[in-house]
Amino acid sequence: MAKIEKIVLSYSGGLDTSIILKWLQETYGCEVVTFTADLGQGEELEPARAKAEMSGVKDIRIVDLREEFVSDFVFPMLRANALYEGQYLLGSSIARPLIAKHLVGIAREVGAHAIAHGATGKGNDQVRFELAVNALDPSIKIIAPWRQWNIRSRMQLLEYAEKHHIPVPSDKRGEAPFSIDANLLHTSTEGKILENPAEVAPDHVYQRTVDPVDAPDTPEIITIGFERGDPVSVNGKSMTPAALLTELNGLGGRHGIGRLDLVENRFIGMKSRGIYETPGGTILLTAHRGIESITLDRAAAHLKDEIMPRYAELIYNGLWFAPEREMLQALIDQSQTFVSGEVTLRLYKGSASVISSTSPLSLYSADLVTFEESAIAYDHHDAEGFIRLNGLRLRSWAARNGR
Ligand code: ARG
Repeated sequence: MAKIEKIVLSYSGGLDTSIILKWLQETYGCEVVTFTADLGQGEELEPARAKAEMSGVKDIRIVDLREEFVSDFVFPMLRANALYEGQYLLGSSIARPLIAKHLVGIAREVGAHAIAHGATGKGNDQVRFELAVNALDPSIKIIAPWRQWNIRSRMQLLEYAEKHHIPVPSDKRGEAPFSIDANLLHTSTEGKILENPAEVAPDHVYQRTVDPVDAPDTPEIITIGFERGDPVSVNGKSMTPAALLTELNGLGGRHGIGRLDLVENRFIGMKSRGIYETPGGTILLTAHRGIESITLDRAAAHLKDEIMPRYAELIYNGLWFAPEREMLQALIDQSQTFVSGEVTLRLYKGSASVISSTSPLSLYSADLVTFEESAIAYDHHDAEGFIRLNGLRLRSWAARNGR
């Protein structure tokens, strides 16, 4: 086996990746370059730099990817109204291909032939990182310490940390923290008591949303502007993608919007229970469906809804950079040509509801649909023939059945 001379590590500065850094240095005896992505996880990233420095890392990369994350990954996914298993807005799934893309970019730049990640051997994230790297640069070797070392549990991990004087973080209550993954789209919390779906999740797992019961008693009305399927403004104010999602996370969080307590089917085979908080994303999904409802043709909208579960599953399964995802994306993107206008929503105690919508490109015709007399030529007798022909086969079927 060729000796590995340099490794790029996806590094958060948290316990797992700090231990992985030490383990890589010891096991491979080579230079490790750390890459820390700012995806809007709402965490100071400078401590990660200090920790990497202390571990002797010379090349430390901390990159702000918030705009790229929202404009090139979150928004394209939102155009599809993507939900996995009908509910999950894919907040972790959509971040992995972006991180993988930058790991590959840095590896090429510094001449590293391997990258390493801290995803465990039981989760979806290892699959997502590695399928993305395969698709982007098949020459890069992937090191997944959780599948290679003989640390088998959180307990053994803590022992390793103690032995190597790596500080062990605890949550505000002095307990070992949950497994948390956060970015501008969501916070996902798994592990500990949540592993038993019979247990009700304690309130302290929630981090970016209030309990809808405690949300304000007065509703808040907001307007979101869309251009070609992407949100571009809030209450008339134009914003960059990341700024817009940040703004909506604040609003949604305050009104308890976007909480989800879910048992999902992992790609790798097992069921897992997690708590998701996706305040801004939930508002955007509702608003996007609202603007589509007046701007999309019926058959176009229904076709989108048919392919949506397939598209969502591709993202969940780590196939963002696969040809079939790109093909579906082209279809979805084309469908958004006329999806422009404004949607007004009411935020109230955990819900975001569309209360009005307008578009210069609307297909909605009050003249056509009205219960009142209308100028538009619509012959009611056409409906009679339409129903008669559609009923033809039903009449044959019923007659044969002797009804
Ligand atoms: N189950 C989610 C997914 O597969 C989240 C995974 C990461 N979350 C975590 N808390 N470690 O997309």
